[in-house]
Amino acid sequence: MLVSAKEMLEKAKAGHYAVGQFNINNLEWTKAILQTAQELNSPVILGVSEGAGKYMAGYKTVVGMVNGMLEELNITVPVALHLDHGSYEGCYKCIEAGFSSIMFDGSHYPIEENVEKTKELVKVCAEKGLSLEAEVGSIGGEEDGVVGMGECADPNECKMIADLGVTMLAAGIGNIHGKYPENWQGLSFETLDAIQALTGEMPLVLHGGTGIPEDMIKKAISLGVAKINVNTECQLAFAAATREYVEAGKDLQGKGYDPRKLLAPGAEAIKATVKEKMELFGSIGKA
Ligand code: 13P
Repeated sequence: MLVSAKEMLEKAKAGHYAVGQFNINNLEWTKAILQTAQELNSPVILGVSEGAGKYMAGYKTVVGMVNGMLEELNITVPVALHLDHGSYEGCYKCIEAGFSSIMFDGSHYPIEENVEKTKELVKVCAEKGLSLEAEVGSIGGEEDGVVGMGECADPNECKMIADLGVTMLAAGIGNIHGKYPENWQGLSFETLDAIQALTGEMPLVLHGGTGIPEDMIKKAISLGVAKINVNTECQLAFAAATREYVEAGKDLQGKGYDPRKLLAPGAEAIKATVKEKMELFGSIGKA
């Protein structure tokens, strides 16, 4: 059964490790992530962007697929199904479809409007037992065609949103989605430290997990990050493994064109990436 991300993240914050949010794009992705979490006895969060939700034929399809896998693959570790960077309308759709966690990304609204909309969703999520992630300070890079600038959030605004009763808070600290450019300045630990000082127990979320050096990940966890989102890295691993298979001509040998064979190396590559991240984040054995 899907669970809210609240308990797993509170435990992670108290235990100084982080739970990975791995974004899903299709059945292979979902299965690879769930099997790896189960094998490593780690809690996990499946992230679904609005674009990926649409691609997978809608939120209800996603809920059906994930719930089916939990049962048929005997997944017993805590799993949250989470809307990633949700719009206000998208949040309501996912609540209705049966997600167990949502992110309302109001970072592009003026802070007053972000507060108002977040406040309303806090109430709805509390009634339904869902966890809610809010965002302050837009996270850079491109996601679903939306390009953010990679800001550093204002710690006072973070406190304002945290005090509304959200479950976890994503704050921009110089992180961006996708690959980091050559001239990236690194994470702003000064900002993170100031945010944690004001928000206390609140589990903090680090977006743009792809390509952040290990020492920075560890330092971020030590400063209160309890959830780390990874998407692009699984996509790159999947693409590289699939390319290798095709370039080696394996799709032309025997029934190598069968999607169950063609997509297998990519799925294995996702598993390896997820395992590597779970080791780094410290969530193995914490289910
Ligand atoms: P990356 O694609 O950079 O790993 O970011 C993932 C993310 O933050 C999803 O919200």
